[in-house]
Amino acid sequence: MTVQLRVYVPPHPLIKHWLAVARDAATPSVLFRSAITELGRWLTYEAAREWLPTDETTVQTPLEICPATVINPQVPVAVVPILRAGLGLLEGAQTVLPLASIYHLGLVRNEETLEASCYLNKLPEKFDPQTRVLITDPMLATGGSIMKAMSELTERGVDPSLVRIVSVVAAPPALQKLNAAYSGLIVYTATIDETVNDKGFIVPGLGDAGDRIFGT
Ligand code: PRP
Repeated sequence: MTVQLRVYVPPHPLIKHWLAVARDAATPSVLFRSAITELGRWLTYEAAREWLPTDETTVQTPLEICPATVINPQVPVAVVPILRAGLGLLEGAQTVLPLASIYHLGLVRNEETLEASCYLNKLPEKFDPQTRVLITDPMLATGGSIMKAMSELTERGVDPSLVRIVSVVAAPPALQKLNAAYSGLIVYTATIDETVNDKGFIVPGLGDAGDRIFGT
């Protein structure tokens, strides 16, 4: 049986609110950054469901011993922010996953061909095959960048079914490419937008997330 890509758009008022703030062209950079941080926090919280490995144990309360579930510290958890814009989601993600290792991956699209190329790769040579990996990138447009990130990870031993992608606006071309290549992968996004225009921008989208986060 083929397990297809799953895409979740959590129906949460905080996620909807911060998406509206991020979409608004009148939102200044400082508030845009806050909106992306909040989206990183709440989407990572959703993504952690049934993904963070837990152990069953017991705890001694002031009254008696009772069953307890705790995060399993033996299983590695990693966050891979796709620079630059993925850095905006990282701070919120780290509040949910404070013990995760952070491996930066710098990808940039050629403005004409829209092809993604890698200018910084801090991934380890090999991941433990149990590693839970959360990729942060606010925009999945043509899909060139996220496909490149996925291939860099799977080449290093990451199991695609243990990967969660946290995005803000996802577009059909990127989701179709991921679906064709990776089963068991799950995307958490604030919205799925209609299309990508001929300049590679998601429509209606939120503009250029990297530029808006860093004020460039
Ligand atoms: C943007 C965005 C994604 C990528 C999505 O990055 O942050 O990484 O484009 O587009 P794709 O799905 O068509 O590959 P950009 O190249 O603008 O770099 P930046 O984050 O440094 O601004």
